[in-house]
Amino acid sequence: MATVVGGIACSHIPAIGNAITRHLQDDPYWKPFFAGYPPVRQWLERVRPDVAIVIYNDHGLNFFLDKMPTFAIGAAPEYTNADEGWGLKPVAPFRGNPELSWHLIESLVAEEFDLTTCQEMLVDHGFTVPMSLLWPGGAPVACVPIAVNTVQHPLASPRRCYRLGQALGRAIASYPQDLKVVLLGTGGLSHQLDGQRAGYINREFDELCMEKIVHDPEALTAYSVRDLVRLAGSQGTEFIHWLMMRGALTGRVKRLHSNYHIPVSNTAAGLLLLENAA
Ligand code: DHB
Ligand code: FE
Repeated sequence: MATVVGGIACSHIPAIGNAITRHLQDDPYWKPFFAGYPPVRQWLERVRPDVAIVIYNDHGLNFFLDKMPTFAIGAAPEYTNADEGWGLKPVAPFRGNPELSWHLIESLVAEEFDLTTCQEMLVDHGFTVPMSLLWPGGAPVACVPIAVNTVQHPLASPRRCYRLGQALGRAIASYPQDLKVVLLGTGGLSHQLDGQRAGYINREFDELCMEKIVHDPEALTAYSVRDLVRLAGSQGTEFIHWLMMRGALTGRVKRLHSNYHIPVSNTAAGLLLLENAA
């Protein structure tokens, strides 16, 4: 059977991709950020997952305001990156696992979560930056991208994302093939890129989220999307990806590593490694 080995929540700020391309990991600005990652990479080298399910938001590369699914899932043999601005150079395509994707889709729709199914799907920095951070030499995993709308309101509530995560966990557990699955929730933490509060960061709320998501994630599902915008900034809503990732883990998890650094670009960069309890 497929098993969930753990979950990783991490930042996807495009500037990180540029810092990697320019080898700035030891630069004073970047060092405290990149220093958070070696323990997570060591865990990945030890556990060697076969599959990464990547929960993120598309920022306009694949979906735009004219057609915006609340939830979309990839069912493609390969996922291509493309020029999306931000000065990012497109990275090599990522391998998919359509058979697993379709199993997840069947199971999630049966559990009353209707996702847009994508047999072709471009992936943007929300997906590619975390992959470069976690596997700098190229990702030795098959991928299933799950894109969550955090761009155009109305957004799905934190509770609904957590529940979808729980259904995803059950879907993975019912896949008959022996596969080790890691879940990634990307983006966050607090940030707002535009408007009067551009540059807004809320350390206190971020720390509360990073603490509660480990042992009491249900408590965080009480927040509305409006609460998240108010407390974490308009793009801080990306925290719903973290909650979906957490929902797919078992009730009990072990926190193996965490890091928090502000700011990177306009954003609070959080990192969390959770191992699934047996
Ligand atoms: C930044 C953060 C994001 O989440 C994003 O998608 C793009 C840019 C930033 O802080 O620069
Ligand atoms: Fe983002």
